[in-house]
Amino acid sequence: MTIPLSRPPLDDEIKGAVLAAIDSRQYILGPECRGFEADFARYVGAQHAVLTSSGTAALWMALKAFGVKAGDEVLVPAHTAFPTVEAICFAEATPVFLDVDDSYTLDPKDAAAKVTPRTVGIVPVHIYGHPANLTLIQELAARFGLWILEDCCQAHGATWQGKKVGSFGRAAAFSFYPSKNLTVMGDGGILVTDDDEIAARCRRLRDHGRLNKDVHAEVGFNLRFNEIQAAVGRVLLRRLDQMNDRRRQLASRYAERLAGLPIALPSEQPGARHVYHLYVIRTDRRDALAAFLKARGIQTGIHYPVPCHRQPAVESLNAPSLPRTERIVREILTLPISAGHTEAEIDQVTAAVREFFSR
Ligand SMILES: Cc1ncc(COP(=O)(O)O)c(C=O)c1O
Repeated sequence: MTIPLSRPPLDDEIKGAVLAAIDSRQYILGPECRGFEADFARYVGAQHAVLTSSGTAALWMALKAFGVKAGDEVLVPAHTAFPTVEAICFAEATPVFLDVDDSYTLDPKDAAAKVTPRTVGIVPVHIYGHPANLTLIQELAARFGLWILEDCCQAHGATWQGKKVGSFGRAAAFSFYPSKNLTVMGDGGILVTDDDEIAARCRRLRDHGRLNKDVHAEVGFNLRFNEIQAAVGRVLLRRLDQMNDRRRQLASRYAERLAGLPIALPSEQPGARHVYHLYVIRTDRRDALAAFLKARGIQTGIHYPVPCHRQPAVESLNAPSLPRTERIVREILTLPISAGHTEAEIDQVTAAVREFFSR
């Protein structure tokens, strides 16, 4: 039997919610969507939540609502999923790439060194489920007058100094892609903010820039969300803390059973509560280990092999080199983890990793 990287939840309660949403005959931005937005805003501790079609759409809408324009520079870690950068480019701003620190999130010292008179904001990415150092990022933003847009696409429910990620900046974006800590049986995303105007502008942008049925205040797009998936999201949001606790238990099991091997295990920095969206180890024998595990039916991944500043799509920016990012992308390997994995599966993975290093 193969051990998948991630196993999204599916059971009768979820199926029941889908059927009830179908029976309601309201399919787009109806009561389930409004209910999910209210539930999610409360969960994060934000005033507003705006559902949309993906995490990328949520990032893009936030940037547009902030008034980002051509020539503006936005600080962003190069070690992230390309959509973080894509949203910045799509809003016509210029991404300025940052190196990582020991938690694989952006290095605040590198951020300070890269501020210019054109810098307008910073996008911390809580990669793998580990919060970036939001204390230092808030200090930096205050010092240079920058906004903060948190990319929480991998970190639903993670906390920094006891406070949920998504509540530290002007706005935050979350993704519900099927492998995420919170999913909706397909694509989806949500933006959270305390700012009434930003929330209102994003509600317009996701629905063709509409003020009302007949009047379009600006050019937006169709980035709406639907009732069936919102119903699933509401069921799973109620289980999110429990599912994150389960991920943390499995991560501790990994840590115990992989101790003493020549690999770097994920760390949890002081102040951070990691929610282990991904369990990422590092070894200079990465490719051989991945092949060894694959031969034993164990799926692994690399998040991400090509750092954003080296993607052909942004080649024209001629981004300078980022030594730590360029080193870690050759060594990182993602092992299977999700709330749906069993202890026996984690033990099978760790036994295989031990066997690899004992040969
Ligand atoms: C860090 C990060 N940012 C942005 C995104 C984009 O989210 P989506 O796939 O929902 O557009 C993802 C997910 O792929 C992500 O992991």
